[in-house]
Amino acid sequence: MDKYIIHGGKPLYGEVEISGAKNAAVAIIPAALMVDGVCRIENLPQISDTETLLTILSHLGAKVRAVARSTVEIDCTNVRYTDAPYDMMRRIRASYYLIGSMLGRFGAAKTTMPGGCNFGVRPIDQHIKGMTSLGAQVDIHGGFITAQAKNGRLKGANIYLDKVSVGATMNIMIAAAMADGVSIIENVAREPHIVDVANFLNSMGADIRGAGTNTIKVRGVRRLHGGTYCLIPDQIEAGTYMAAAAAAGGEVKVRNIIPKHMDCITAKFREMGVDIVEYEDALLVRSSGKLRAVNLKTLPYPGFPTDMQPQISTVLALAQGTSIVTEGVWDNRFKYVNELRKMGAAITVDGRTAVIEGVPRFSGAPVAACDLRAGAAVVIAGLCAAGTTEVEDVHYIERGYEDFVGKLRSLGADIVCITAPDRPHEPAPITATAG
Ligand code: UD1
Repeated sequence: MDKYIIHGGKPLYGEVEISGAKNAAVAIIPAALMVDGVCRIENLPQISDTETLLTILSHLGAKVRAVARSTVEIDCTNVRYTDAPYDMMRRIRASYYLIGSMLGRFGAAKTTMPGGCNFGVRPIDQHIKGMTSLGAQVDIHGGFITAQAKNGRLKGANIYLDKVSVGATMNIMIAAAMADGVSIIENVAREPHIVDVANFLNSMGADIRGAGTNTIKVRGVRRLHGGTYCLIPDQIEAGTYMAAAAAAGGEVKVRNIIPKHMDCITAKFREMGVDIVEYEDALLVRSSGKLRAVNLKTLPYPGFPTDMQPQISTVLALAQGTSIVTEGVWDNRFKYVNELRKMGAAITVDGRTAVIEGVPRFSGAPVAACDLRAGAAVVIAGLCAAGTTEVEDVHYIERGYEDFVGKLRSLGADIVCITAPDRPHEPAPITATAG
């Protein structure tokens, strides 16, 4: 069991290179299953979620080859329809994209239900609605989802999503890419990674228009061919380093990003008193560590991202005044607050709203990462705390942050990862968490 040991109180200085977008990668790897030929993916983040998905593809018969750091070649030409390895599928939520890609390629899919959820009920009714509209018969039984297209091929359809869902938007778009005819998907999510997945599919021969708006039109094609695609940078990883610099103080250049994707996050940090200079592909973040309280509500893009809520709330817990943070996407995304309280944060939570009274400083404490972004939040708290913070369950963090410890150390943070003996009587975690 790995844990992080952080000696807090050091400002951060230097430059940090942002990796490829996790939430694009975890859809693009399953989508590669539909490609007839070699698919070269560049700027792939080296995180455990992408490793798991690549292993799943290998089990299905794909040839997967790492050709350079952050570049893999995936050849699914000879993949035949077969059951996916369920143990691995249960580990990550994004395995649901295999429903769309298997249906698109084989007209049939069988996967496990995506694993347990850390921040409330996480239904997949909109994914099922989409696949059903495309002509699949979908059954859920005994923790498995099976889907079968009538006559072995999906058929284009008009689909209106009842809820703006990132996962459902991408899954339906992936499936529709190889359906017969045209699909119009309305009320879709508009996150940058939706556009990235559409661009990936288009570069392999798909015909998808409108990604990034609230209506996507997909003209199905018979075949996707091989090609090369470079992923966009990770908006949330970049925002996490901005939060770390804002809270700990110092001057950090966050590099290899698309500043436009950061607008909703940059605006909030500026409101808090953080000085941010924008470059073509970087943001320079300067903070004295003395920040103002702000209110915010998380919303689908271009609103403030829910995946930045734990990190910015941690920064606000050190700002002067009272902030109100409302979670507009998930029912239960404040579990990390208990961990921050152990470090001295003054936060009360009522349903989807947190009232945060800024305190002058945190004190180091033993804490746990409750999920991926909650884990990033307690690490940020540890960087600012007086004394030593020990963070357990860091495997959650490693699902989504490439070399988190190494990147923070390069900015001057005093953080190390140690391997501690496993806690007794505790089974290895197998449930998925969002991220
Ligand atoms: C993705 C991200 C996650 C992020 C979330 C919102 C991945 C792997 N994960 O999760 O990090 O927090 O987007 O930006 O990309 N909903 C339904 N029915 C559905 C699907 C969703 O009611 O069929 C609801 C959910 O309960 C939630 C909201 O819609 O309240 C948004 O969920 P969704 O956008 O689908 O999140 P994910 O794609 O699971």
